[in-house]
Amino acid sequence: MNKQKSTVFISLEANHKPRLKQHPPSPPVTIPPDLPQPMTMDTLTRNYQSIVRALGIYYPVAYQFARLLGKGQQGQVFLGLRQGARGCITEYAIKLYSPCLYATPEDYWTDMGRIAAQVSRMQRIQCPNIVSRYSYQETYGIGYVEMEAIDGVDLSRLLSRHCLERAMPRCSQGEWVTFTQTVFRLEQNRMRLQPGVVVYLLRGILRGLERLHDMGFLHFDLKPGNVMVDRLGSVKLIDFGRAVMINEKVSFLFGSPLYMAPETHRREGGSPQSDLFSVGLIALQLLVGHPIPENPDVSEAELLKVKMGIADKLDTILPPYVSENADLVGILRKLLAPNPADRYASAKDANVGESGLATIDKQLIYAGLDTEYARDLSDYLSKLIAPQTQRIETDEAD
Ligand SMILES: Nc1ncnc2c1ncn2[C@@H]1O[C@H](COP(=O)(O)OP(=O)(O)OP(=O)(O)O)[C@@H](O)[C@H]1O
Ligand SMILES: [Mg+2]
Repeated sequence: MNKQKSTVFISLEANHKPRLKQHPPSPPVTIPPDLPQPMTMDTLTRNYQSIVRALGIYYPVAYQFARLLGKGQQGQVFLGLRQGARGCITEYAIKLYSPCLYATPEDYWTDMGRIAAQVSRMQRIQCPNIVSRYSYQETYGIGYVEMEAIDGVDLSRLLSRHCLERAMPRCSQGEWVTFTQTVFRLEQNRMRLQPGVVVYLLRGILRGLERLHDMGFLHFDLKPGNVMVDRLGSVKLIDFGRAVMINEKVSFLFGSPLYMAPETHRREGGSPQSDLFSVGLIALQLLVGHPIPENPDVSEAELLKVKMGIADKLDTILPPYVSENADLVGILRKLLAPNPADRYASAKDANVGESGLATIDKQLIYAGLDTEYARDLSDYLSKLIAPQTQRIETDEAD
């Protein structure tokens, strides 16, 4: 077995050289070819860092990382330019899974096996409200998922001050006034989304969830950072790293505690209603402008206590212009019911059922208060386009 360090080169013939403006071919990446020898956590961690430093993957397919799209607990997501034949260059989002969360390489690869199996099953799901995932691959023991690169922002960034400050100087006074009436409100120095836009976003999330649940999966990690809106205003669910099959026995705690349903805190296992509770928490955050509770650094017991009482306190949590709409408050109360049996029967029911969100849309239409939400969002996002790349700006400063 070759124990020397190997150097991976991409050889590009002059005639067929792809035009990669900002990123000329990176220096050769040196990664110890320990495979198929046993790998240690140190080797895996070094390999992960080498890929991030080299801003590229060169085996089994070549990608250059044009920029970081986002980071999370599980790893980093890059905009990857894939080099095809004859200089064809296509864009993908590459999610690199960090080994740092795991105790041993075997634990890491076991979990990567779960992700790989999940990608195989979920790749078949066609839904405009779910990111398309194409493939799971490994390079030097490091797992990554190649998926559709969404040209947009996630909802936590959409709510961020940074996003607002970037858009503001690019708007005329008239545009700014329109956006503050259609897309968001600025109150007490806080950015909140307009109720009509929130209803629109929630309905997109519920449509994606309906499809996911129908295919037998729970998302199990719904939060603003895991929902994106693209440049046309379409809503897309992302980050299925913690998705589980409905009725799957979950042995350890998944997801972000702040957005978990009470039964998940109690380790009782999840159901579609657990995802619906998270949708309710997302709704509150978009309407109020901050997560509930505002300070997430509280114990799990305290989080659970807050969540058990949230449905009864909506009148005091929501801004007055929202709490005066009894139907909308009723919907939020049903999504956030402490007992899963008291929530909606399904995502579809919460969306288009008799007492679902579609009723609010109808009210807005009758009152002449509806607007073209997708277009409004799209117009707003168009103020965030980076001149160089023509993509919506999502740098880490957000
Ligand atoms: N397909 C995509 N296209 C564009 N941006 C993306 C895509 N997938 C993820 N991102 C961006 O990267 C961020 C992190 O991705 P993701 O949520 O998958 O990582 P994560 O490590 O699982 O996060 P966490 O576990 O903290 O939720 C997202 O919030 C989003 O801003
Ligand atoms: Mg995430």
